[in-house]
Amino acid sequence: MEKILEVKGLCKTYIVNKKQNNVLRNIDLTVSEGEMVGVMGPSGSGKSTLLYTVSGMDQMTSGEVKFYGKDISKLPPDELAELRLDEMGFIFQQMYMLKNLTVLDNIILPAVRSEKNKASRSEKQQKGLELMKMLGISELADNDINEASGGQLQRACIARSMINSPKVIFADEPTGALNRTSSEEVTDKLNELNRMGTTVVLVTHDTHVAAKCDRILFIVDGTIKEEYNLGKYTGAATMRDRERKLSEWLMNMGW
Ligand SMILES: Nc1ncnc2c1ncn2[C@@H]1O[C@H](COP(=O)(O)OP(=O)(O)OP(=O)(O)O)[C@@H](O)[C@H]1O
Ligand SMILES: [Mg+2]
Repeated sequence: MEKILEVKGLCKTYIVNKKQNNVLRNIDLTVSEGEMVGVMGPSGSGKSTLLYTVSGMDQMTSGEVKFYGKDISKLPPDELAELRLDEMGFIFQQMYMLKNLTVLDNIILPAVRSEKNKASRSEKQQKGLELMKMLGISELADNDINEASGGQLQRACIARSMINSPKVIFADEPTGALNRTSSEEVTDKLNELNRMGTTVVLVTHDTHVAAKCDRILFIVDGTIKEEYNLGKYTGAATMRDRERKLSEWLMNMGW
């Protein structure tokens, strides 16, 4: 499998009130095409920072991050912005959707902004509607953002992250604000997209969500303490076993 991300010696240091905070310390990480990687670890351990630096949303202090062999720290800002728009999808814990646009218009916004995406506006809308259908929210297309539930909006965020057919989706606690049922739906959709070929890197505190990932990284104090290979999730029948193994491992990690 081709390597989508190759991270070597990644460090990120914040300086607040002249005090140095080494948030990421020498991270080495490889993610291959088609993987679904979960990132876990205590609050403040650097999970979000890891997602933001490897996706070029935030600048690294030192080290190397290669996206399909291309060193993203060496890209000029406009090329990096384009790469993010065209090749990466993002889902955040807080739902950043524009209030004055409909759900569908929010979903197709990254396509409208992309120079690489040459489809017409109606083709982009068509694709947006197809994604909404796949995610079970097509009836919301013309709704305002405030006319949708949290779970529906989170699914809209997944649709938006998919609109330019990215190679990889970075998701930061995509189910953090959801109840068990919505969380399950959102995770199942991410699994489905992953089965269709999209690589997923997702931060979660939830063992039920993590148990559906192929591989889980455990981050402590800005380093990958250990990782656990669960193998591809093949269906609900295996969940109890996966969750048990994962919980045991997490307990040994001091979770
Ligand atoms: N913009 C920033 N400026 C200064 N310090 C920051 C900034 N963003 C994060 N930090 C610090 O970096 C550390 C790691 O934060 P990060 O958000 O990556 O943790 P996390 O593992 O995602 O935690 P959580 O599980 O609570 O979301 C924390 O000590 C935090 O205070
Ligand atoms: Mg975080």
